[in-house]
Parts: sequence; structure tokens; C-alpha cells
Amino acid sequence: MSPELFKAWSTQVLTSVESALDNWVPESAPAGLGQAMRYASLDGGKRLRALLVQAAAEAADAGATPASQEAALRAACAVELIHAYSLVHDDLPCMDNDVLRRGKPTAHVQFGEAQAMLAGDAMQALAFEVLTPDVGEGAGVPPVLQARLCRLLARASGQAGMAGGQAIDLASVGAALAETSLRDMHHRKTGALLRASVQMGAACGGVPTDSIAWQALSDYGHAVGLAFQIVDDVLDATQASETLGKTAGKDADANKPTYVSLLGLEGARQEASDLLHQALSALQRSGLPSQATASLRALAERIVHRDH
Ligand code: IPE
Ligand code: IPE
Ligand code: MG
Ligand code: MG
Ligand code: MG
Repeated sequence: MSPELFKAWSTQVLTSVESALDNWVPESAPAGLGQAMRYASLDGGKRLRALLVQAAAEAADAGATPASQEAALRAACAVELIHAYSLVHDDLPCMDNDVLRRGKPTAHVQFGEAQAMLAGDAMQALAFEVLTPDVGEGAGVPPVLQARLCRLLARASGQAGMAGGQAIDLASVGAALAETSLRDMHHRKTGALLRASVQMGAACGGVPTDSIAWQALSDYGHAVGLAFQIVDDVLDATQASETLGKTAGKDADANKPTYVSLLGLEGARQEASDLLHQALSALQRSGLPSQATASLRALAERIVHRDH
């Protein structure tokens, strides 16, 4: 896929995701909570998880019906809400204690710690509300698909995924983790949500969980998910805060074990590049037409070759 085509495709996807989130994240939540939620979830971030949902959905032909299209839009917004909540909590003084996120003061700097915690809580709940529209709301996502999307997202967000990985991250400050433990931490804290994004898109496209395509798309998500966090570790050590929109150099300052501290910059880059090849070869064995997986290929390249 040419850079121009990818740009056109992603702009179109992100316009609908941004406008749906704008509708669904309520300004009217009480006592300023709505402002904190909107501050943390709108107009920010690369939206890579939303793009993965849509790309996987399109690869699996989820555009086939209005209901599957709507399911994919809801899944894209839900995963971005969980991600945005995880960032708000990750930045809190009791976790990474960061003051800059997406080029703005972090939510707790802007609104106070209690409001930031509550905004995160409310965004997490809202993600599942978005996945389960009322009867008659929108194009009618089948209840079985709603339940499946909820399970995939819950599993990736909780102890088996993001929250569990964050617990390991905090417990590992100052520790020299072996690669297997570091990989497990990265798969959980970041990889799980990226893989779930791909799986949710595939579910919207009706890919059965016992199919070769499901396994291949899951393998793709597993590989890009780990690559994503390895590249995050590399960027933390190599980019300026202005480019990242968050404070650079935090991992070394906080004495966190990362792929850079374990393997060095070149070793970490090599690992990310190996994972890119694994992701691309998973797509080849998916049995999906090469044209259908073009945006997934472009996203894998982007995840590994980004500068922020
Ligand atoms: C940053 O994620 C946090 C990690 C999981 C490493 P992103 O780099 O996707 O953050 P945004 O959404 O673009 O701000
Ligand atoms: C965060 O990892 C992963 C999350 C679950 C939010 P990091 O702590 O490395 O993310 P950044 O670098 O602050 O974005
Ligand atoms: Mg962290
Ligand atoms: Mg952090
Ligand atoms: Mg980081």
C-alpha cells in the first residue's frame, strides 16, 4: 500500500472514530468528570489500536453489513477508551509519575489525582457500554458478537493483560529481568490490547475462532503487540520529549527494565525488526487475500518504524 493510500485510508477511519468518541464521551458527566474524560480521550494519540481493529475487520470483510461495520466502529472506540484510561492511570504519581502526555499536561496535573483516577474508571466502564448498545440503538450489533467483543477486551485489559503487566512493571523497578520475564511483562502490559484490537476486528468480520485465519491474525497481533512496546522502549531512550509528546528518558531515570536496558539499542531494534517479519509471515499464512491484508501490513511497518 502506498503512503498516500494508507494516509487516505487512516484519515477516513480516524475521522469516524474521532466523531463517534466525541458523541459517546459525555461532557455532562457530573462535577467536571466529563471534562477530564474528554481531555484524556479526544483529539490525541496515534489511534493505532483503532486502526488495527478497522484493518483486521476489513481484512475479514466486516464491511459486508451495516451491523458488522457498526460493531467495528464500536470496537475501535472501546479499545481506545481502555487505552486512554490505562495512560491516565500509568501517568499517576503512584505509577510512572509523568506530567506530559500527548503534548499536554497529564490528566492528574490538569484535574487533580482523584479526578484523574475517576476519569480512568469511567472511561473503562464506558468502553463496555459502547460495546453493548441498547436494542434499537444504531445498526443492531448481534448480542453474541457484543458478548464476544466484551470478553476479548476484558481479558486483554485485566490481570491476564494490561493490569497484570502494569503490576509486574511496578514490581520490577530496579530489577534485571531475564528476557522471558521481560517479554511476558511487555506482552501483558501493551501487547495484549494490541492483539485484542486485531481479534476484535476479526470477530466483527465473522472469522471463527477455530479457523486458520483467526490463529494467523492472533499471531500477527501478538508479534506487533510486543514490537510496539519494544519500540516504545527504544523511543524513550532516543527521541526528544517534543517529538514524543511525553517525557523522554523516563525508563532509565526510573530504573525500569526494558528491551534497551537488556539488549542495548541495536539489540532492541533487531528484536523489533524480527517481530515485524513474524507479523508479516503470519498474514501470509492467514489464507486472506493479499489485497485484503494491505492495511495490516502497512500498520505493522508503521508500528516498528515510527518516530513517536
Ligand atoms: C503509549 O501508547 C503507551 C504504551 C502502551 C507504550 P501509544 O504510543 O499508542 O500512545 P498514544 O495513544 O499514541 O498517545
Ligand atoms: C505503559 O507503558 C503501558 C500501559 C499499559 C499504559 P509505558 O509506561 O512505557 O508507557 P509510556 O511510555 O508512559 O507511554
Ligand atoms: Mg508505565
Ligand atoms: Mg509510563
Ligand atoms: Mg514507555
